Amino acid sequence: MALYQFPSHRPRRMRHQDFSRRMMRESYLHTSNLIYPVFLLDGQNQRQAIPSMPGIERLSLDLLFPVAEECLTLGIPVLALFPVIAPTLKTPNGQEALNPSGLIPTAVAALKTRFPELGILTDIALDPYTSHGQDGLLNGSGDILNDETVSMLTAQALIQAQAGVDIVAPSDMMDGRIAAIRIALEQEKMTHTRIMAYAAKYASNFYGPFRDAVGSASALGKSNKMSYQMDPANSDEALREVALDMAEGADMVMVKPGMPYLDVLQRIKQTFLYPTYVYQVSGEYSMLKAAAINGWLDHDKTIMETLLAFRRAGADGILTYFALEAARLLHRDRP
Ligand code: PBG
Repeated sequence: MALYQFPSHRPRRMRHQDFSRRMMRESYLHTSNLIYPVFLLDGQNQRQAIPSMPGIERLSLDLLFPVAEECLTLGIPVLALFPVIAPTLKTPNGQEALNPSGLIPTAVAALKTRFPELGILTDIALDPYTSHGQDGLLNGSGDILNDETVSMLTAQALIQAQAGVDIVAPSDMMDGRIAAIRIALEQEKMTHTRIMAYAAKYASNFYGPFRDAVGSASALGKSNKMSYQMDPANSDEALREVALDMAEGADMVMVKPGMPYLDVLQRIKQTFLYPTYVYQVSGEYSMLKAAAINGWLDHDKTIMETLLAFRRAGADGILTYFALEAARLLHRDRP
């Protein structure tokens, strides 16, 4: 590195004024990079706070319409729906996931009718619907059954695709589910339905507040998801998972959680050059909010820094509970 020597090189020179900082800026955040996850309640005029996610509420469909409209106005391309299923509808095999008139298919159809230009993404997984809170079917000894679960997920994806969803996002980490869903979509001639694979999803403790939000935390109890979600120690394995999901027909791949896994995100983007997304999960949101509420961090500046960091690491887009706030800030600063 003898080429770069002080004082002929003074890196601070380019940082001296805003114009020259802007000249050499490598990454940008745009509203098109944001995906907004929301929690959907049954009924009318229903609004519930989620104590572990300050600022985020569960909303019924009618109250979600203005949110969808604001996403369109701000330029957020996609809304991601997560259902809050009534405990009485939860069963060991999560049958309610296959109800064509259930909460999610109904909401998808209504949103696509009102806001056809807004992209809608739905999660393909059984955990909001199962009484045990796992993403899959269990056998007598408590093992998660892979292939039987994949059949359920395929049926769930088809029902949501028939309701008009733009993107299905299998978040369960069963083996072979992307191929099964892709083949079923092709058979039904639903060639436009995109698949965003939760390709490298880790068995993370950062999902805690999400499980409060959808009500799977109490169902799950002391059990965990380590027999299907990835070991936080691994990174080569994430590349193999992504390779499989791409080969099976995923249009987009995702890494989850976000901030503690930026290295995985960067490797995936650099290795495959594929549309790559990251999920800044509930626990990351809650940590940042808690610190900001206590006055320990500057809320707006810190969240924008985290989102820019995802872009620098290679994310094409970010699922984040900060999407609305971030988009409003982007408009305020660059109208
Ligand atoms: C369910 C699912 C989870 C998340 C998204 N889809 C939780 C889990 O796997 O237990 C987590 C999202 C978040 O924490 O924000 N399959």
